Amino acid sequence: MLKITLATSNKHKVDEINLIAKDYDIEFVLPEGDFDPVEDGSDFLQNAYCKVKEAIKTGSTKYYLADDSGLCVDCLDGAPGIYSARFASNPKERIDKLLDILKDKPNKKDRCAHFTCAMVLCDKKGKVVFQTQKKCFGYILDKPIGEGGFGYDPIFFVESEKMSMAQLSKEQKASVSHRSLALNEVLSWLVKNY
Ligand code: IMP
Repeated sequence: MLKITLATSNKHKVDEINLIAKDYDIEFVLPEGDFDPVEDGSDFLQNAYCKVKEAIKTGSTKYYLADDSGLCVDCLDGAPGIYSARFASNPKERIDKLLDILKDKPNKKDRCAHFTCAMVLCDKKGKVVFQTQKKCFGYILDKPIGEGGFGYDPIFFVESEKMSMAQLSKEQKASVSHRSLALNEVLSWLVKNY
């Protein structure tokens, strides 16, 4: 079994990633100790690189993977984007703030959005061996629907599934999400190269 440190303290991400990778002989584990890297990049890939560099200092696995992700709303020029986690102080306030900003835009065509996930895979010396960035498209609902997932999932309507991300089962989310699209590319690279 290949163990890979996932550069996050977000347990939801580790669980989602291990579910997506369930058919591979790979286990993604959290960094050892507290993990709170400074994310001062100007895009998702740069922030993923900030995280992976910090994770390398904490562990002893052969590879390190960072996932930097967020919600980008078209009519807000991509906001909250890389600031998705810092948009307000907790998940409910982040959702309320976004719904309030969009309250004067009732039409779904004005509420188009996507989740982005950038992934950077490094070896233990910090060399980037693979990177990718993927998107999942939809729009912002006018109220939260569904209990699953995390973060902005209850207000994100997944165009391909015709349901909110929070209404999808874990397995459905693992087959359509921005994270699964990116991770499947990482897994293909690992299968050929490790
Ligand atoms: P990160 O941990 O710095 O990558 O911040 C990601 C933030 O974007 C999270 O705290 C969520 O608010 C949001 N986010 C990323 N991926 C998802 C997802 O799959 N569902 C809902 N929100 C997400």
